[in-house]
Amino acid sequence: MAVRTPEASPGPEAAERGPGPVKVRLGVNGRERGIDIEPRVSLLEVLRAELDLTGAKRGCDQGTCGACTVWVDGRRVLACLTLAITCEGREVTTIEGLARPDGTGDGQLHPMQEEFIAQDAFQCGYCTPGQIMSAVGCVQEGHATDDAEIKEWMSGNICRCAAYPHIRAAIRAARDRV
Ligand code: FES
Ligand code: FES
Repeated sequence: MAVRTPEASPGPEAAERGPGPVKVRLGVNGRERGIDIEPRVSLLEVLRAELDLTGAKRGCDQGTCGACTVWVDGRRVLACLTLAITCEGREVTTIEGLARPDGTGDGQLHPMQEEFIAQDAFQCGYCTPGQIMSAVGCVQEGHATDDAEIKEWMSGNICRCAAYPHIRAAIRAARDRV
């Protein structure tokens, strides 16, 4: 399984807070955000419902499809299985922040986004934000040496449209650019 949940569990302080809304501060795409949430709320719910960042998709909501993949401190995680409160003080990156990780807003696409377009690596597009966040992680981790390795390390991201050959082509092309 290539995509994971954060290794750190909530510390004692987090564990004692709630069950009602508590103030949580986290970095999202280069901006510090403060939100009042119940400790039981997932990161996916916070991103989509509280912060209006709907790029990360809710597919299965149980950790099996990868549509909700984002990064926490630069590592890919499944937002549906990640409690938002465990991200306190961490930096969350979503597909909306990938094109402009420095927050400049210049709109320059990431090479992986450009290659997904160039290689026609999607059909309906529902899985695409998660695929791209996972694909960049896959390359950065050094797990994109060949197709077999890409298959293995992208196995947590399901595509119902079966665009896999094109997705792997995009990953190979982006890998060779960076
Ligand atoms: S919605 Fe998170 S893994 Fe499917
Ligand atoms: S492009 Fe449709 S689910 Fe992947």
